[in-house]
Amino acid sequence: MKKYLSIILGIILTACLVACGSSDKESVDDKKEDVIGNQEVSDTEEQGTSTENQPIEIDANSGQEIEERVAVVYFSGTGNTREAANLLAKETNADIFEIIPEDIYTEDDLNYNDDNCRANQEMNDDSARPAISNDLSAVSEYDVIYLGYPIWWGTAPRIIQTFIESYDISGATVYMFCTSGGSGIENSISDLQQLYTNVNIVDGKRLNDATEPDIRGWIESFN
Ligand SMILES: Cc1cc2nc3c(=O)[nH]c(=O)nc-3n(C[C@H](O)[C@H](O)[C@H](O)COP(=O)(O)O)c2cc1C
Repeated sequence: MKKYLSIILGIILTACLVACGSSDKESVDDKKEDVIGNQEVSDTEEQGTSTENQPIEIDANSGQEIEERVAVVYFSGTGNTREAANLLAKETNADIFEIIPEDIYTEDDLNYNDDNCRANQEMNDDSARPAISNDLSAVSEYDVIYLGYPIWWGTAPRIIQTFIESYDISGATVYMFCTSGGSGIENSISDLQQLYTNVNIVDGKRLNDATEPDIRGWIESFN
């Protein structure tokens, strides 16, 4: 009898051990799945984070994201380019600087039908550098500069050369903008690129009658 009882007990114990063993195994497997599952989730989150929030610029020393400083700098004889500059500054959240001539241009100075008007004389003289009355040295601190002017005889007025030669903007990415009676900005850009190879002039746009969406579209095209 004793023999039969020990055999039955042995069977029960073995069954119990097998059952307990398999449930332990299941729980380990469950944990494994959980861990792998979590890893998959966190991997996905990491990838999403790194591709979706790419910083514009990272400081090499601190590893911090750097906010670019943007300036709109312009010269305007009769107000058209000023209007474009104000709109551009609003759209780009930029600080705005006006290039103010020491001798403000009068209507007679700008009468291009008169061969001897001051503006025509300056444009006929490669060495003319009309003086600027205000201090614009702060512009050297900016990462992006939008530089604007009216087109005079197909190119930029000489006072733009005075500006570029007076201040160091070699550290900035420079975009030109202009207003004109119809001429494009392209000639003035290539003229200035040839003259000032140390200045990083990358693009430009004529902004006559430009709307806010026009300006946004332009900015987004190079961001
Ligand atoms: C001396 C002078 C030359 C000009 N030459 C041109 C030209 O070559 N092509 C053109 O389309 N407009 C020309 N214009 C017109 C101006 O570019 C245009 O009126 C511009 O919008 C003026 O901008 P502002 O009001 O900011 O001075 C000239 C104007 C002046 C005063």
